[in-house]
Amino acid sequence: MTKLEPNREDIIRIARQAGEMLRSGLNQPHQVEYKSLIDPVTEMDRKSEAFIIEQIWKQFPEHAIITEEGGYLAGDKGSCWYVDPLDGTSNYSHGLPIFSVSIAYAQANQVKIGVIYDPMQDECFSAERGKGAFLNEYPLHVSKTSDLNRSLLVTGFPYDVRSTQQTNLEHFGYFTLHAQAVRRLGSAALDLAYVAAGRLDGYWEISIHPWDIAAGTLMVEEAGGIVTDVQGLPDYFKPPYAIVAAAPSIHGQILAGLHNGTGNPVK
Ligand code: IPD
Ligand code: CA
Ligand code: CA
Repeated sequence: MTKLEPNREDIIRIARQAGEMLRSGLNQPHQVEYKSLIDPVTEMDRKSEAFIIEQIWKQFPEHAIITEEGGYLAGDKGSCWYVDPLDGTSNYSHGLPIFSVSIAYAQANQVKIGVIYDPMQDECFSAERGKGAFLNEYPLHVSKTSDLNRSLLVTGFPYDVRSTQQTNLEHFGYFTLHAQAVRRLGSAALDLAYVAAGRLDGYWEISIHPWDIAAGTLMVEEAGGIVTDVQGLPDYFKPPYAIVAAAPSIHGQILAGLHNGTGNPVK
């Protein structure tokens, strides 16, 4: 008999296996194709994705899956998975060991379980709605930083950065001058996991995708952080996926900086 719903352990097992596949392939030569001028996809993105889909459907054949490479794979929309099989493909394709696997499970459009696995550090971040966020089995809490000058922030840039009006570059400049420092790690899922873990104080990105943030946003919320869209509204999980996720005492300061800083106001 097939199970109706996954538990956290089911998803952790899949993410760990996919991550191990990526880890052991990191230093092999890669076949890199480009979805646009600077948007790469490797054979390992596809291999990891095929493995994850197979594992999900083996146990939950009725469920829908939204993946980065495959798009929307039809099923029962009320039970939907969001999969980024390799978050950090630019890093990975250069042999830079900062990347992750991100898998989330949502019921009735609400993410219930999220797992982000970093195979290079063997760090498995997970969260379950109402039950907390964890690094391996240790509970996670966002930071207590309250002064923007002391905050370590992180962001990312969209692959259409050369053509879009919303480059995020002005905001990056603003926070570089107003926070302690701003990082660009290249894996939005890890950015969010690190905010949940209190290693970073806040994250913003103004054009991201559901598979990048489904697991990590739940993680930040379950670790005591605040996640909103860039207007400060709680209904952030919808296009254009422009979000701020941060420790409570820093969240408002990031929103204010996005709107009143030197950058174009975010729409
Ligand atoms: C990208 C990374 C990056 C973020 C980009 C994403 P990919 O995902 O998460 O940090 O800034 O917006 O598209 O392509 O490496 O899976
Ligand atoms: Ca991604
Ligand atoms: Ca990806």
